[in-house]
Amino acid sequence: MNKQVVLTGIKPTGMPHLGNYLGAIKPALALADREDTEARYFIADYHSLNTVRDAQTLRRYTYEVAAAWLASGLDPEKTLIYRQSDVPETFELTTLLMAFTAKGLMNRAHAYKAAVDVNREKGVPEDHQINMGLYTYPVLMAADILLFDTQVVPVGKDQIQHVEMAQDIAGVINHNYGKELLVIPEAKTSDTMMSIPGLDGRKMSKSYDNHIPLYLPEKKLRKMIMKIVTNSQGVEEPKDPEGCNVFALYRLFADEAEQAALAGRYRAGGMGWGEAKQVLFEKINGEIAPMRERYDELMADKTQIDRILADGAARARKVARGTMERLRGAVGID
Ligand code: TRP
Repeated sequence: MNKQVVLTGIKPTGMPHLGNYLGAIKPALALADREDTEARYFIADYHSLNTVRDAQTLRRYTYEVAAAWLASGLDPEKTLIYRQSDVPETFELTTLLMAFTAKGLMNRAHAYKAAVDVNREKGVPEDHQINMGLYTYPVLMAADILLFDTQVVPVGKDQIQHVEMAQDIAGVINHNYGKELLVIPEAKTSDTMMSIPGLDGRKMSKSYDNHIPLYLPEKKLRKMIMKIVTNSQGVEEPKDPEGCNVFALYRLFADEAEQAALAGRYRAGGMGWGEAKQVLFEKINGEIAPMRERYDELMADKTQIDRILADGAARARKVARGTMERLRGAVGID
């Protein structure tokens, strides 16, 4: 059976939050578990370097992300996990792709355009504090994807344009050499991400500072859940589960029967917000507690992570070398 190659990159920006877990990690692990897929999930540390400029911080973020994926159930025997920086073929391919990437294509990238807009608003020069890493971000990402003959790229909606740019660049190269040298990848998005509310009811996001980190110690997790914004209805009042941030989160962790039971208690009255939040806390903690233990264990002795990433890198490089050999031959740099 020809397995479908699935690949995605995770930018190390610290411990993932509940929104990342539900919207990205869980679906990606489910995809990796299927018999008909071959999944590769990597830590995009050179992408982070554009913004994370402290060595210790970047190192810690990388470990936190690796530990979070492993603790959440990624099986390194089955799913390749590696650090982008451990696969130097990525950077060779980036240089090759650069020669085929229209500058105008990069000018149209949302992230670059947003940074320019901010500068215009501030009245500073358009490219103020914009580095080439940000400007060429889509090329490096295309290299990540194309290096592994990736067919499916699970990403959030904000990354669709980047995958389209990888398609575009690969298409230019295939057209130039008159053959299917590179596999054209497809983005795969999930809608769950949008519907995960943060503490204040807006989409859970680190940039809104309304997020709940995934592997907080139990007490801190409880404290945070108690901060979820609700209306000011009193204990006795019947409550509407629809539109309630506490219930919206509960729904993502509970089965149908549990959801119906809690909705019933809302509507009946007699349950205050503190109690509803306690029910939510117990539900979330029940799912997370065993994984948190594994997370803490991995973070306490990082040699395990080091070993897993080194093994992943060796396996990834084998594939990457094959692709580069093929490409170098095709372009005449052999
Ligand atoms: N740009 C992606 C993000 O910010 C991370 C990423 C880097 C990526 N390289 C990738 C995702 C390759 C998918 C495939 O989320």
